[in-house]
Amino acid sequence: MNPDRATQDQAALTLEVTGDGVAWLVFDRPDSKVNILTSGVLARLDALLGEIEAQASGLRGLVIRSGKPATFIAGADISEIASVRSEEDGYAASREGQRILRRLEQLAIPTVVAIDGICLGGGTELALACDYRIASDRPETRIGLPEIRLGILPGFGGTTRLPRLIGLSQALPLILSGQPVKASRARRIGLVDEAVHPSMLLDRALAAVKAGARPARRKKPLASRIIDDSAPGRAIAFSRARKQVMKETRGHYPAPLLAIRTLRRSVRAPLDRAFENEARALGQLIASDECRNLIHVFNLMEGAKKPPPATSRPAIERVAVLGAGVMGGGIAQLLASRDVPVRLKDINAAAISKGLQHAAGIFQKSVKRGRLSRRDAQHHMDAIAPTLDFAGFGRVDLVIEAIVERMDVKTRALREVEDHVGDGCIIASNTSSLSITGMQAGLARPANFCGMHFFNPVHRMPLVEVIRGRQTGPDAIAAVHALARRLDKTPVIVNDGPGFLVNRILSPYLNEAGFLLEEGASIEAIDKALLDFGMPMGPLRLLDEIGLDVARHAAAAMHAGLGDRMRPSAALAALEGTSLLGRKGGRGFYVYEGEKAGGVNSEIYGYLAPAVPATRSEMPSEEVRTRSIVAMINEAARVIEDGIAESPGDVDLGMITGTGFPPFRGGLLRYADNVGMPTIVEHLERLEAASGPRFEAAPLLREYAAAGRGFYG
Ligand code: NAI
Repeated sequence: MNPDRATQDQAALTLEVTGDGVAWLVFDRPDSKVNILTSGVLARLDALLGEIEAQASGLRGLVIRSGKPATFIAGADISEIASVRSEEDGYAASREGQRILRRLEQLAIPTVVAIDGICLGGGTELALACDYRIASDRPETRIGLPEIRLGILPGFGGTTRLPRLIGLSQALPLILSGQPVKASRARRIGLVDEAVHPSMLLDRALAAVKAGARPARRKKPLASRIIDDSAPGRAIAFSRARKQVMKETRGHYPAPLLAIRTLRRSVRAPLDRAFENEARALGQLIASDECRNLIHVFNLMEGAKKPPPATSRPAIERVAVLGAGVMGGGIAQLLASRDVPVRLKDINAAAISKGLQHAAGIFQKSVKRGRLSRRDAQHHMDAIAPTLDFAGFGRVDLVIEAIVERMDVKTRALREVEDHVGDGCIIASNTSSLSITGMQAGLARPANFCGMHFFNPVHRMPLVEVIRGRQTGPDAIAAVHALARRLDKTPVIVNDGPGFLVNRILSPYLNEAGFLLEEGASIEAIDKALLDFGMPMGPLRLLDEIGLDVARHAAAAMHAGLGDRMRPSAALAALEGTSLLGRKGGRGFYVYEGEKAGGVNSEIYGYLAPAVPATRSEMPSEEVRTRSIVAMINEAARVIEDGIAESPGDVDLGMITGTGFPPFRGGLLRYADNVGMPTIVEHLERLEAASGPRFEAAPLLREYAAAGRGFYG
């Protein structure tokens, strides 16, 4: 182990016994904002538990706390999880963690944990091994077991102790969703014994330990007693949980399924058996491809939080949005929801009231779901100031342009904006297809201009492409990146080019769905093949979401910008001029009833004739999937060749957060690496021979295949 790290691990945990005979274990990792449970820290805990055991007869009790403000323990060390290669090593690591926490649990003195701030994974498992748990009720306090999101399960006794403490019906959703809970909820479900004001936390912990750390008996609600305390009740809970997991993941994620199986075998078993089952399951999961891929995605997400270089970092406090349409209204809502005051300008009063209604509708949904109070919703709406002129533009730090997708209209409007804002104001366009470099050519301060590309619907889609035009300066990029982070979005910085990153890679994929349709594959078969791969929806269903008119327009722009390999299929063109617009019009490849997609709209096949056979032959699912995915990989290689994305990680992050590309596959290019470059090139050569030059392999792919490497080296 690296010596610095060993010293840090040693210093991360200290033991002090005060005059009243209470031992205090304090987690406070030096030179770090958070406490993590590395194997070194666990070994240190083991040693200190030995010291406590030796002095136990002279001690009244033990309190465990963090020395950091508003953060308890953020969990295990992800890089250590990633370094475990074999099932046996995973099993052994779990057994070791269990042994140490069992030692804590079996101390002869009362033990109390005082949780202030974030408490995740191993931190929660440590708390579960104490006799008594108290949490501070500050908003930062969140207690949970997020292991499932990394493709594993809680392996330091968490899956064993949690259902025994709070009951199966409460434990299942915590373990299966990985979603942490606030102190008040933790108190309600019995995960902690008290939730108190942060200023009282340590006094209460001391009082509790002196009183013997005896939790009050909690009366469980009748409904959970019925489920938890009878075999048929538990069987129902497991079968419901499994159904829910299958619905959400189509069985692609082994961790939740194995967690359910483990709990089923363990919930009534003797403790030792349960611990053994848990460790076996952890070993199995930690060595899986899914776990490795999910950790890769986790690291990419963390990487996106790092600010890019800048000379100065102008903070963005006030924003104006130009255009109150679908996107402008959505962007204004998002800004207001994070307490950023926003001016919403349009040229049309009716459009403004529609934009405001759109924003209010989103807030109302949150109120209905109990996530937002009526008062807060009103307070957020008050942050949006509608305007038909440029009033107040002189005081904004950023203008986001979201008006009609026409170069001439946009350049004119942007020039006008420049006349009404201060010299330091940054201007960003939300264009999805026009050139950022082209737009900045007409501006007096081009360095202050960049792209800020949100995805529809704005409040749900996590990705924001931050686009650098040829003349964009680093400060504009840094400021827009920081704002995207403040809005809880995942910013990916890309260079300017047709379709930027995500829409460019998606374009050949959507086109391919059209070609497959032309060749006789059915709508169901195409979409099912990609759903089975793990995409959140099939490509034809996605075209319906985008809107067939918008998709046609975008496809034409990509064709014009990137040439013949982006030639759209005849299928989409054949639907031009019909009333089929996709979901917004109620009919597209599917028929829609309200918000919901009904069955396939077989009237589509009529429009495609006579170019297609009347009877749909079922193309093998494997072929549909290979053609669709390889088309994306090939374009992604060109995106890197052209310098649009700087790294394969940016491509993977963009595709996961912008299209829902399945995280368990680690991202598009990580998937390509796993398949192997020679295989990808072979597929492309075969497809080029069969279907034409759109499948010509990108030079980068050939180069990697020849060098025996992948995108990630
Ligand atoms: P929209 O048609 O719903 O809204 C555009 C609004 O801009 C209209 O209310 C119009 O009155 C207003 N407008 C036109 N000229 C103006 C001016 N000079 N000053 C102020 N307001 C003006 O359009 P949508 O869908 O919201 O798109 C806006 C931009 O966002 C486009 O550049 C589009 O490419 C981009 N975008 C759209 C996405 C989508 O899914 N709709 C996704 C991502 C980007």
